[in-house]
Amino acid sequence: MFENLLSVTKSWRDDLPESHRWTEKVTLNASTGSLAGHSNIVPVLIENSQTKLFGAISQAESTELIAQSGWKGQSGSLRAQVGDRTFVLVPKTSLKVEAAQVGRQLGLDAAAALKDFATAPVNLMSDNAFCAASMLEGFLAGQYSAGVFKSKPATGFVDSVSLAANMDAKQLEQVRTTALASSLMRFLQDAPANWLNPPRFAEIAKDLAKDLNIKCTVLGPEEMKAQKMGAFLAVAKAATSPAQLIALEIKGQDPSKTVALVGKGLTFDAGGNSIKPSAGMEEMKYDMSGGAAVLTAAKNPPKHNVVCLIGAVENLVSGDSTRPGDIVRAMNGKTIEIINTDAEGRLVLVDVLHYAITNFKPGLVVDVATLTGAVIIGLGHFGAGIMGNDPSAVDLVRNSAKAVGEPVWELPLWPESVNEVKSDFADYANITNPSVKAGSIMGGAFIKEFVGETPWVHVDVAGTAWACSATGFPKKGGSGFAMRTLVETARRFGNV
Ligand code: BES
Ligand code: MN
Ligand code: ZN
Repeated sequence: MFENLLSVTKSWRDDLPESHRWTEKVTLNASTGSLAGHSNIVPVLIENSQTKLFGAISQAESTELIAQSGWKGQSGSLRAQVGDRTFVLVPKTSLKVEAAQVGRQLGLDAAAALKDFATAPVNLMSDNAFCAASMLEGFLAGQYSAGVFKSKPATGFVDSVSLAANMDAKQLEQVRTTALASSLMRFLQDAPANWLNPPRFAEIAKDLAKDLNIKCTVLGPEEMKAQKMGAFLAVAKAATSPAQLIALEIKGQDPSKTVALVGKGLTFDAGGNSIKPSAGMEEMKYDMSGGAAVLTAAKNPPKHNVVCLIGAVENLVSGDSTRPGDIVRAMNGKTIEIINTDAEGRLVLVDVLHYAITNFKPGLVVDVATLTGAVIIGLGHFGAGIMGNDPSAVDLVRNSAKAVGEPVWELPLWPESVNEVKSDFADYANITNPSVKAGSIMGGAFIKEFVGETPWVHVDVAGTAWACSATGFPKKGGSGFAMRTLVETARRFGNV
């Protein structure tokens, strides 16, 4: 199927990072304290220049460890021996706020600290249930490797990871599930567009749906044409790789309500005729991060139906690309003047959202998209922008994000903003007059016109999907941001 020689494997699964396969099979145990023959990881809290070891460590061990390790309140990690026990002290960051963030960061720092040491089994000494689960998750995430895109396979994985926490096997497996979802999401973000094109996105979705025993349907360009998705298809026009609308349907125990999760899945965004500058364009392979978040959030739901929809497409340039000034008709019948072909995410989203709303009649729809560079101006890489048409829906997403430690901040959809997305020649224009500014809000204001009365929340992850301070994860690469928020939102939907 692929014209390049990057991948010579039969299944996309064979191309997954070694770290992903390791995460699938590594033994996870619960422990009650320090273990012989292990690297015992001890979180260190420094408060008012007082050092306190926390986690499941005895007072005697703690005192001896501080004395023996030569700990001087340093910011880096430190290794020490007490009797037959090996300890690694890992300072707790003061930069992260939510328990889930703190735990993940501790786990990541532990993984980094162990890179220089032998591969003895690891025992993570944390005792607070939530922070402990996150610490394990962070530790697993800290093993992430590049996979097939580097010729030399990653090595040096430990056989087992223990966690000093009062958790049963089921809870430990839940952490593994989250870690695997995050690892797959990051791999999809890092994968180049000559590996992850829309058909491959669909193939991966179908295989994951098979694993979960859920329904997956894929619309190709012809089916989208039959559905009159003129906005989506305008973006798809230039690429030879066919666009795909992927839908995964998860039946809830109580199917009376449905939540729809919609992801922008631009496997590459060159900008089209409104072409982007070359510097940094290679990073536009991560313009599918919203789609990857939605795909990897697909799980068997707690209560209500969940539908996950991904608009997978490439925005390229060819003799047949959409031109600035072209007018298209969206699925809802409204016309759009495409003034800038680089504002393509909203064109894809409005058709996928309309499809989601008309087909599945959701009580809530959440879209996740790397929509605007402007969100980086507004919020930096510290958090994602959220906006919506229903305060309680925004609250639900905001509270879910807080619980899982993914920072978000609401941006207002001012009532006047709708006037700025009107066109002289069509019903709407896909960008505003440059004097309007507020690019992220205007992206939201445009999309809002196409969702009608359905409670809707838009999450702009352009600043957080890639190497960002919000997750602390990678130095460079996909961050896995938003998958956890979506899982938590779907879990809470209808329960609050
Ligand atoms: N995919 C980009 C947004 C983006 C920018 C994501 C930087 C990640 C990092 C999106 O399709 C885009 O090009 N948006 C334009 C919109 C503009 C033309 C109104 C932008 O942000 O410049
Ligand atoms: Mn663009
Ligand atoms: Zn884009």
